[in-house]
Amino acid sequence: MGAVTVRRLALATCSEVPDLDDEGRLLLDALRDAGAEVVPVVWDDADADWAAHDLVVVRSTWDYAERRGEFLAWADRVSGLTRLENPPALLRWTTDKRYLADLAAAGVPTVPSAFVAPGEDTAHPYLDVEHVVKPSVGAGSRGALRFGADEADRSRAHVDALTRDGLTALVQPYLAEVDTAGETGVVCIDGEISHAFRKGALLAVGDALVEGLFKEEEITAREPSPLEVEVARRALAAVPGGSAAPLYARVDLLPTPDGPLLLELELCEPSFFLDTAPERAASVAAAFLRRA
Ligand SMILES: Nc1ncnc2c1ncn2[C@@H]1O[C@H](COP(=O)(O)OP(=O)(O)O)[C@@H](O)[C@H]1O
Ligand SMILES: [Mg+2]
Repeated sequence: MGAVTVRRLALATCSEVPDLDDEGRLLLDALRDAGAEVVPVVWDDADADWAAHDLVVVRSTWDYAERRGEFLAWADRVSGLTRLENPPALLRWTTDKRYLADLAAAGVPTVPSAFVAPGEDTAHPYLDVEHVVKPSVGAGSRGALRFGADEADRSRAHVDALTRDGLTALVQPYLAEVDTAGETGVVCIDGEISHAFRKGALLAVGDALVEGLFKEEEITAREPSPLEVEVARRALAAVPGGSAAPLYARVDLLPTPDGPLLLELELCEPSFFLDTAPERAASVAAAFLRRA
């Protein structure tokens, strides 16, 4: 009999949830059931020994957005010591929503998006319709506000506040079908669709900015429609390096009368919402182990 190789994995998390969230712990158990040695490690823990792991998987690193440069430098460093998923180039690409312009140019049906960089005029193309202003680098709905068609001054003030902070503002029409139909998140593992979920609408006109790491979300299981599956596949195929490059991806889609549009292609720390599809935990763990 040959020696059994035990694979050692680290699930990268943040100091707010050092022992992972519920889903992270579900994944940890599934990986242990598959025979791996797995520990959660806080990504900015200076004492962490990344080289001691065969694979580091980014999971609940929810505090990266305010420190993106530091986070990407961390990713570069870790990938020099061991294998990091998703790889640094994909983390860099996905953590700035300016990638939406790449995907639209590649023909992926994408939510119409305009960008205002620091120093540019705060007037934008969606001032006359109901719209959303959010930072191009951001997560958990932080920094996102919805404005009515008659709120040009407030909208421009928010663009001004974001750009004064050195951020690029992303401006989109508010796609109101989400209020009834919800958003669809399609979770892809190793280039294949694993499962999907429904997320309730998150933004109301007049809401204040979110405090904390994320806005509370209402999630339920959902079977993606054939059109949603098609747009998800097209988005995945447009990832730099192709659909098999990322270990995991989440394609978030908003409904419109003309079909689903891509809102986000999340390759950094998307929740998989495995609690809505617990039967998928073992296959997700197996995919992680194939890369270890
Ligand atoms: N253009 C839009 N139309 C309708 N809802 C939107 C739009 N943009 C954002 N939202 C709402 O705000 C939430 C957060 O925006 P999102 O682009 O997903 O950024 P984050 O990276 O913070 O999750 C979405 O889940 C959705 O409910
Ligand atoms: Mg989102």
